[in-house]
Amino acid sequence: MMTSHCGVTLAIICWMIVFFKQTQTSNGSELSFSPCGGVGKICRCRGTTADCSRNGGKLTFIPAFSRRITALNISFNRLSSIRSENFFKNVTELTELDISGNYMSTVKTGAFKVCTRLNILYSRKNKMNYSTLGEILDIPTLRVLDLTHCSLRNMPNDLFHRNVTSRLTTLILDKNMNTRMNMSAVKPLRYLKHLSLSQSLVSGVVPDHLPFLEKLEITFTFLSSFPLTCDDRGEAFYPTLVYMDMNGNRVTSVPSPFFVEPYLCLPNLTVLKLNHNCLITLDMTVFKHLNNLRELSSTRSSIENIYPEYLRSLRRLDVHNNLLQHFPETCVVGSRSFYPRLSYLDIGLNEIRFFSYPNPAPTICLPWLTELVIKYPEQDELDMSFFKHLTNLTKLNAKKWKYRHDPCPTSCRL
Ligand SMILES: *[C@@H]1O[C@H](CO)[C@@H](O)[C@H](O)[C@H]1NC(C)=O
Ligand SMILES: *[C@@H]1O[C@H](CO)[C@@H](O)[C@H](O)[C@H]1NC(C)=O
Ligand SMILES: *[C@@H]1O[C@H](CO)[C@@H](O)[C@H](O)[C@H]1NC(C)=O
Ligand SMILES: *[C@@H]1O[C@H](CO)[C@@H](O)[C@H](O)[C@H]1NC(C)=O
Ligand SMILES: *[C@@H]1O[C@H](CO)[C@@H](O)[C@H](O)[C@H]1NC(C)=O
Ligand SMILES: *[C@@H]1O[C@H](CO)[C@@H](O)[C@H](O)[C@H]1NC(C)=O
Ligand SMILES: *[C@@H]1O[C@H](CO)[C@@H](O)[C@H](O)[C@H]1NC(C)=O
Ligand SMILES: *[C@@H]1O[C@H](CO)[C@@H](O)[C@H](O)[C@H]1NC(C)=O
Repeated sequence: MMTSHCGVTLAIICWMIVFFKQTQTSNGSELSFSPCGGVGKICRCRGTTADCSRNGGKLTFIPAFSRRITALNISFNRLSSIRSENFFKNVTELTELDISGNYMSTVKTGAFKVCTRLNILYSRKNKMNYSTLGEILDIPTLRVLDLTHCSLRNMPNDLFHRNVTSRLTTLILDKNMNTRMNMSAVKPLRYLKHLSLSQSLVSGVVPDHLPFLEKLEITFTFLSSFPLTCDDRGEAFYPTLVYMDMNGNRVTSVPSPFFVEPYLCLPNLTVLKLNHNCLITLDMTVFKHLNNLRELSSTRSSIENIYPEYLRSLRRLDVHNNLLQHFPETCVVGSRSFYPRLSYLDIGLNEIRFFSYPNPAPTICLPWLTELVIKYPEQDELDMSFFKHLTNLTKLNAKKWKYRHDPCPTSCRL
């Protein structure tokens, strides 16, 4: 009797210890950062992540850690250069490294040799140029490289030609000083899927065949024309592109003022963002060969007209804050729809006066439309008979707004 009672008590105590320990470890090392490494409070660890950021100059070398470290953050440490080729000797298992905000300009040859697993490198806000970047571009395991805000100018055309072993899939060049992008320069990156050039000084794109690119972002730059997507044989430069964001440019027409069929060669494009540009008309015919286009947005421009076209795959259309005076045309002859699969439409903040439409209201052919946003001018009244054909409509966001056209950039009018 006595022993079994003891056993039970012991078991309960053991269980309590284990439970307590578990809660402790889960709080101490998994959920929050705690001091680690050999240098007091300079680094904090959580699991295999070490954060040694923001020591403002106190971190001069990377300490040895008592645990395996796979992600290290040494950003904002005034490390203007990596002088020793042994710099990363204490963290050879890194897969992710952040060296941002150090105004770093040089890296000792071979410094990254010991990091044989480095996958992701954030080097934002540094001062490297393309020749000093060589050490980084040569890291054979690197997949993701973020070079935002590094004062980089135009990429040399042969930057990657010297070494085609790179397996970069993501290259972020936002907020740099490049004025054009020659796609031939990144063509040797045979695995490149995501390229971003946002908030740079880019005003032109020299096209080339990038057969693996899936995501292209060129937002808030100085492009005045839509990049060429078809070569002179009508073949796609970017056949696998799925997502294209061109917000915040000065594009006046898509694809260019002198287009001929097939207009755009983007067979896999699913999402196209063209908000905040200088469009006056939105000509849907240019999208007619984009059989995968599901989402199109062109808000905050000066669009007065939408020329309709049969777009079989389009699901979402957002054209709010433009200068439309009429509800977009949706019916082909009969009651067949131009946009048979459209389920979301935002035409708010335009100049459509529902009240002044003649009676009976025009037919709207959008059989799949479930959500409609029509913020409309204060002086107007909504005539619900307008929407009587929308049998699938479940959400109507029809608010009155003090009309305020938030125009395209003033640069549009230059
Ligand atoms: C663990 O952390 C959570 C949230 O931070 C807190 O609510 C909980 O009381 C902590 N547990 C222990 C045992 O410290
Ligand atoms: C590795 O860490 C130890 C202890 O923190 C330190 O003395 C040594 O200088 C470090 N090695 C390098 C190459 O930085
Ligand atoms: C590194 O630390 C900086 C500053 O503490 C932080 O802003 C940044 O997000 C961190 N990097 C990563 C990859 O978490
Ligand atoms: C690149 O930067 C390094 C180090 O700051 C400098 O010595 C070199 O002259 C620079 N090269 C160019 C082409 O600006
Ligand atoms: C390319 O990079 C790899 C890996 O860093 C290196 O071993 C090789 O020597 C480089 N090749 C050239 C031609 O620079
Ligand atoms: C683009 O780069 C390629 C080589 O990568 C070069 O042959 C071509 O002349 C460049 N084009 C322009 C317009 O700079
Ligand atoms: C387009 O995308 C589909 C799947 O989304 C994929 O199966 C197909 O191979 C892609 N086509 C091209 C040319 O990349
Ligand atoms: C309404 O939507 C459902 C799916 O939610 C669809 O099956 C149906 O065909 C739609 N109605 C019309 C008229 O297309």
